[in-house]
Amino acid sequence: MGKSNLFGKDLICTQEWSLDELIQVLELAEEMKRNRFKYSSFLKNKTFFMFFYNPSVRTRQSFECAMTELGGHAQFLEPKTMRLKTATTAGETIEDAAKVMSRYACGIGIRILEDKVTRYGEGDELIREYARWADVPVISMAHDKFHPCQGLADIMGLRKHLGKDLRRKKILLTWGHGALARSWSSLQESLLICSRFGMNITLAYPKGYDLDSEVIELTRNNCDENGSYLETTNDHLEGYRGTDVVYSRNWMSPNAYKDGAFLKEEEIRKAMEHKKWICDSEKMKLTNDAIFIHPMPVDRGHEVTDEVASGKRSIIYDIAENRLHVQKALIALLMSDCW
Ligand code: CP
Repeated sequence: MGKSNLFGKDLICTQEWSLDELIQVLELAEEMKRNRFKYSSFLKNKTFFMFFYNPSVRTRQSFECAMTELGGHAQFLEPKTMRLKTATTAGETIEDAAKVMSRYACGIGIRILEDKVTRYGEGDELIREYARWADVPVISMAHDKFHPCQGLADIMGLRKHLGKDLRRKKILLTWGHGALARSWSSLQESLLICSRFGMNITLAYPKGYDLDSEVIELTRNNCDENGSYLETTNDHLEGYRGTDVVYSRNWMSPNAYKDGAFLKEEEIRKAMEHKKWICDSEKMKLTNDAIFIHPMPVDRGHEVTDEVASGKRSIIYDIAENRLHVQKALIALLMSDCW
């Protein structure tokens, strides 16, 4: 595999990068995990801006640690610190904000999730507008459509536990009931990146929880190119049989927005009616001794039982750790001139 020059590139969804480029990030992340403090001057004196519309544990902490370990600094920003123009208030345009931020920082990360937009897709448009005007790389730190850093961290975990050749390994992505009304970002990223790596995918959810049809079509195309498959089911048990990986996660329904409002309470009420949609030990017995993954935070007792989430086949903490390594690799490849 030849190495690409990734300097200056944006990362909004892994689908927009070549497979070789994704493998380049993963291989550097694996090297950075082995030699954690070897790259401590790659971002010396540089600042990465982290712009959060929504709260975060892993993303904020791992990006901050990544910049520290590369010799730079990550600065935390929120919309209330920025005086930005919105649909209802006067303020600074994205063009001006992105151009000014580019004069200070080596890169910009943005998080904007389901309850900070008035309709699905608005967060994706906002992040692409920043990328359009910024002169430095823009990285999605999770938005309403995709979560590329999570997808890379998931694949890094699967490569460690199942081997680097993931072709024909089977992953079950199953809906879980819960009280969080989550966005589609992590699931959709996982569909795309797992299919790029040639995995067979079962997507299981109760009727009424379809994901973005364009993402499903892209996933099917990825599978066709790799000779793998995507199958969907509305049965809560079927997908467990013979699977190598189980990923259980709540997500919102396509009816979550009405008149510009995110109907969180209604989404939670509907989701809590599907109590049999939980990953538990009995279901895990149907699998090929599957590993359990989840991007976290885990809604224990709803999406998955404690027994599975904390069981010997759960790799949730490995994957959370991988966020640090893949983000260090990304920042170094996109923003460092030390190569
Ligand atoms: N997985 C993930 O993005 O976690 P946080 O929401 O805590 O950042």
